[in-house]
Amino acid sequence: MGLTYGPQPAWRDLIAGFLGAVADDRSLAAPWTGGRSEARWYGRSAWALADTVADWRRRHGEQMPSFWVPSYFCDNSLQPARLAGIDVVHYELGEDLNPDWPALRRAAEQGRPDIFILVHYFGHPADGAQARRFADDTGALLVEDCAHVLRPEADIGAHGDVVFFSPHKFLPVPCGAVMTAPAISEAPPRRTQSVTPWAVKRAVQKILPGPLQRSRTRRQTLAFDEDPAVAPAAAGGPGAYAKRAIGAEMRNAESIGARRRANAAIYRRWLENANDAKPFFDTSAAEGAAPYRFVARCPDHAGAVKLYGELRRKGLPAESWPDLAREVAAEPDRFPLANRWRQTLLMLPVHQSIDADELERLLRAP
Ligand SMILES: Cc1ncc(COP(=O)(O)O)c(C=O)c1O
Repeated sequence: MGLTYGPQPAWRDLIAGFLGAVADDRSLAAPWTGGRSEARWYGRSAWALADTVADWRRRHGEQMPSFWVPSYFCDNSLQPARLAGIDVVHYELGEDLNPDWPALRRAAEQGRPDIFILVHYFGHPADGAQARRFADDTGALLVEDCAHVLRPEADIGAHGDVVFFSPHKFLPVPCGAVMTAPAISEAPPRRTQSVTPWAVKRAVQKILPGPLQRSRTRRQTLAFDEDPAVAPAAAGGPGAYAKRAIGAEMRNAESIGARRRANAAIYRRWLENANDAKPFFDTSAAEGAAPYRFVARCPDHAGAVKLYGELRRKGLPAESWPDLAREVAAEPDRFPLANRWRQTLLMLPVHQSIDADELERLLRAP
């Protein structure tokens, strides 16, 4: 079939999404809440983030919160919150992708956060316990951003006052993100997204033979330094089709994780023998139970651009990190790591529809 950016539904599942019963929102959210907390569904997590701000404002007489977000964060995902007029305070991370705690504590002496976002990047658990202490000490609402995580793990999703996941990033479904919290009111009513454009696109991708799919990947190449156009964030929530598909796909969560780990291991072995690039995470275990992407660290910007071009020419849809916020890109001295990562990290697809033999073949191809 050729490598695609995201997972592909089987024909059977593409059709089955139109048929059968739809679980209620609470039951559908059980893999993420364990039945312990309430859940709200969205099309994307970007809307859960905006709603977190709106909820906070409702509780605080419509004041604007001080909203702390890591510097390494794609601005597209902040658009819905920015539309509501929020000013984003970016904070710097350490080499291990955790917040730079000493710097944060110093900054909090000047002005405390009201909402603090902790991100578990690429499926790797960030230090939730430390984030909990920081939020308790500063009086902030702790939001665990698990958009890069398939489902809660020991250290992921247990610490936040609000936790959200983006199952649409992991599953072959048209949309779907879930926010969980011990007590949240019912979701504000939303339109549901039309499934037709998504289903037609998936059907075309399934029909295209491998060579055509690869030449499509080559043609669609966005330069390494280019940011994708800001897609209008679809406000609609998941409709019946997406809900059926999410419910059905999550029955395979265990094997989805295993396939993703196995594909990540292929890149790891390839990098050991191949070139200057190295895995970003030292061990496979650090990539988590279901890696979102395999992350390769290049020695410098030129090396990243070169490797990106080579992989794209082979038909492998490598990606760079999309759009840092303008404030972050404009201040490389203040946000050195976010800017360095934008310039030197490559994200490679590991999703469950990738055929391991095909991936090995592509990587070995001259
Ligand atoms: C760290 C992080 N949080 C949140 C989001 C937003 O996710 P969604 O695509 O579900 O809006 C993204 C998007 O890629 C992300 O990288």
